[in-house]
Amino acid sequence: MQELFRVLDPGTEDWALARQIDASRLPAHVAIIMDGNGRWAKRRFLPRVAGHKAGIDSVRTIMETAARLRIEALTLYAFSTENWKRPKSEIDTLFRLLRFFLRQELATMMEQNIQLNAIGRIEDLPEGAREELHRVIALTAGNTGLKVNLALNYSGRADLVDAVNRLIEEARAQGRLGSLEVSEATLDGAVSTAGLPDPDLLIRTSGEMRISNFLLWQIAYAEIYVTETYWPDFRRADLLRALLDYQKRDRRFGGLSALERAQTEESNAEEAVPAR
Ligand code: IPE
Ligand code: IPE
Ligand code: MG
Repeated sequence: MQELFRVLDPGTEDWALARQIDASRLPAHVAIIMDGNGRWAKRRFLPRVAGHKAGIDSVRTIMETAARLRIEALTLYAFSTENWKRPKSEIDTLFRLLRFFLRQELATMMEQNIQLNAIGRIEDLPEGAREELHRVIALTAGNTGLKVNLALNYSGRADLVDAVNRLIEEARAQGRLGSLEVSEATLDGAVSTAGLPDPDLLIRTSGEMRISNFLLWQIAYAEIYVTETYWPDFRRADLLRALLDYQKRDRRFGGLSALERAQTEESNAEEAVPAR
């Protein structure tokens, strides 16, 4: 928190929101479906790509804020396997913007000790974007702060299929394909986010109430936060509001809250239930 307060002016909205946050109960992993760039642009009578361009500033701000909050991991849905259905001009611009973003943000990532990673079928990205991505991943590999995963050509189903195929390949290479058995732990170790905690908080901007094939396996118990705000308008205060909302949630994981558990033992004992 101290690192965040260093850049907040007392009395501002961001400062007031940050003061309400309980630093000991922050999510370890935040995942974001960055949606609404096109509608943001349309509302301003601008081409859709202007929305993507504006969205870059949100990525920078959110990444830096998460780093200053000492959050462990931030996974950003930037391009889905279904997004190839969009016009070529939009796709080309998206990947040009990705290269621009990577070149421009490398300094911030080094300064904030951010380690960049990519999840998704990266091998199918346009060559220029892929090379720039590999370069920044290599350059930030030694950083020990926030882990940022960019989900590119990503889908949750493809993630699971790739994980299963990886396990099959590995077993085949070791001559134990016949006895291969899959458990939650082995699958967990084979999906793209292996080694990271599951997202505690999933944010979607622009009001859509759907998952759109993001992190299907990993969000089993994520708290979901949907805001009407379009991604290019989603800035530090919006992230802080999402975190405050998250801290109000009662995460039961199928069990009961501590208070309810204590009360239940008494009241259940008093309630007579027929034996058959
Ligand atoms: C999210 O914004 C960015 C990407 C999917 C690449 P959209 O481009 O989906 O914006 P809307 O949903 O059309 O407003
Ligand atoms: C999800 O947004 C993908 C990304 C944010 C990259 P979309 O705009 O592609 O999702 P749908 O089509 O509204 O479900
Ligand atoms: Mg969209």
